Amino acid sequence: MANLYQPPLPSHYGQMSEAEMADRIRAHKKAFGQRLVILGHHYQQDDVIQFADFTGDSLKLSQQAAAQKQADNVIFCGVHFMAESADILTEERVNVILPDLSAGCSMADMADPLDVEEAWEELTAVTDATIIPITYVNSAAYVKAFCGRHGGACCTSSNARRILEWALERGDKVLFLPDQHLGRNTAYAMGHPLDSMVVYDPHALHGGLTAEQIRNARFLLWKGHCSVHMNFTAAHCDAVRKADPACKIIVHPECDWSVVQKADLAGSTEYILKVLNEAPEGSHWAVGTEVHLVNRAAQMHADRKVIRSLAGPQCLCSTMYRIDLKHLLWCLDELAAGRVVNRITVDAETRRDARVALQRMLDNVHSQPVSAK
Ligand code: 13P
Ligand code: SF4
Repeated sequence: MANLYQPPLPSHYGQMSEAEMADRIRAHKKAFGQRLVILGHHYQQDDVIQFADFTGDSLKLSQQAAAQKQADNVIFCGVHFMAESADILTEERVNVILPDLSAGCSMADMADPLDVEEAWEELTAVTDATIIPITYVNSAAYVKAFCGRHGGACCTSSNARRILEWALERGDKVLFLPDQHLGRNTAYAMGHPLDSMVVYDPHALHGGLTAEQIRNARFLLWKGHCSVHMNFTAAHCDAVRKADPACKIIVHPECDWSVVQKADLAGSTEYILKVLNEAPEGSHWAVGTEVHLVNRAAQMHADRKVIRSLAGPQCLCSTMYRIDLKHLLWCLDELAAGRVVNRITVDAETRRDARVALQRMLDNVHSQPVSAK
């Protein structure tokens, strides 16, 4: 699904200076005016984010996409699932463009739509309980459509708690896709014990679970994860506490449960930035999320606060990083020449059902951190 093939760009893009590319992007933006909107996720590089009309976490960017009424073109500087969501939430006439088609999300790829259908058959065959499927927006449009068809919804890291409450008002159990960590961290923060959760492994027979385990569980967590956030460990938290007891630790809820437990705060990228912006002068922070966000925040507050990564520069989302000035300029050049390249389109049936799941999320928006001690 994601990680599509991105053909190489014409060679002259490799010969342009950054300043030249930036000037040309600026000129295109001016010429397109309100017909063009550029959305930028917080993990994007500084070079790219400077051109975003709106920046945000997945929730905020979904809302921005849905709010676009004048634009004909939305360039999504983020990853494939985000562009798909934007396509679903905008009018059909709007071109949603992903500057580099190979900007996928390895977590989203961990929930293959056929595996999800198979899991559903297995789970519903062994229990009469009502299962509500909830998918993190970091998933393919087909998985969102599956949730829409089966009475479920999408969530982001900003509203996972509200959506889990919504699900439990409607059913007995939740199948949470594809990030076991966001599912576990959120359910635990709501007061559900760890033994009410089991992990469904799509690569194991019957998900690696007995019928009894499925019947007893409240939360069936899909065995998916973010390889970037798996770099943060409880040992990193211990090392920070030892070296700098006054330092606060804030992490994304895609981190392992043991890390979230040791952190002071956990929440979406937008929440993390808000906390860092509002933190008192002189405060120290170790941040467990993608390194571009952390470096930008560190730079912005360099004279007043100490902000650094909880782990180090290896915590980089390599697919987000594929969006660069060259690709942004290329799709704008093509657009200006009347050619739409890298348009992300979701077929009509998937769009209809996925929109149901996304709309249930947007109707229940009530952003809150996953845990704040
Ligand atoms: P946010 O919605 O918190 O920005 O998270 C998106 C994401 O992909 C984090 O890895
Ligand atoms: Fe996907 Fe992880 Fe990158 Fe977020 S940081 S886009 S979850 S791979």
